[in-house]
Amino acid sequence: MIERAHPVALVTGAGRGLGRAIAGTLHASRYKVAVTDIDEGAAVSVARSLSADGSTARAYRLDVSSARQVADVFASVAHDLGLPDALVNNAGVYPNHSILDMPEAAWDRVLDINLKGPFLCSQAFGRMRLAPTGGVIVNVASTAAFSARVGAAHYSASKAGLVMLTRSLAQELGPHGIRVNAVAPGLVEVDEGHVSAEYKEMFLRMIPRGRIGRPEDVARTVGFLLTDASDYINGECIVVDGGFLTGRPLLRSNPGAES
Ligand SMILES: NC(=O)c1ccc[n+]([C@@H]2O[C@H](COP(=O)([O-])OP(=O)(O)OC[C@H]3O[C@@H](n4cnc5c(N)ncnc54)[C@H](O)[C@@H]3O)[C@@H](O)[C@H]2O)c1
Repeated sequence: MIERAHPVALVTGAGRGLGRAIAGTLHASRYKVAVTDIDEGAAVSVARSLSADGSTARAYRLDVSSARQVADVFASVAHDLGLPDALVNNAGVYPNHSILDMPEAAWDRVLDINLKGPFLCSQAFGRMRLAPTGGVIVNVASTAAFSARVGAAHYSASKAGLVMLTRSLAQELGPHGIRVNAVAPGLVEVDEGHVSAEYKEMFLRMIPRGRIGRPEDVARTVGFLLTDASDYINGECIVVDGGFLTGRPLLRSNPGAES
């Protein structure tokens, strides 16, 4: 349970895209936000747009795959803003490689950022927030955790791993007062032009809700999972995809099966 008037949230990969939207939503909900990103300039610009004097949002350069940087940044945030009450593991990369052409380094990079990063950050958070303080973690997974696609074996494996890491963290950190959940966004257009018109059209046919996701769809769900309104949801992954995973486009039941 988060009780401070201005709880502190640390968001990874918050320099743009979903992370920027999550940081903005939490800031509007009275959180002090540690805006962290491997791209320091992007983090600085987001933090400044939220809090010109740095009192309620501060930027930190953080490569989530580096254990040393994670330890340093968590210590700096605790010093500058206060002990983090909430952690959002959002940083992630989604390059395209077919299995047969995938360089080993590409596999390692995706797993290091998308899966080892949340492990390192959650470990640092857990060590700081053992009971009686407690806290909340939300991991940003993907529908790719549940549905394979060509060119994304490393990405899908990393996100499926993140869903199970979420459950494992909930099991291990629950007794210490830390609640852990995930969100699994479908396709989200984070910036104008981020999704090609052709790809959008293909996806739209598979989304019963009839539109591509918006960053605020995901940010609002993350915000919900951080509040006490979700206090009894633990170790779960909430899919935010307009119904994409619920079926196959134009698939009808067999008209011959009448009995
Ligand atoms: N956009 C989508 O359609 C979508 C769908 C499902 C899941 N997701 C997930 O949402 C998260 C955010 O995606 P996005 O679309 O906003 O991506 P994005 O590329 O727009 O932003 C990702 C941010 O992460 C940062 N980053 C990259 N490597 C990092 C590292 N090693 N350490 C710290 N920060 C790093 C980047 O600098 C960037 O600011 C990712 O985990 C992604 O897998 C996105």
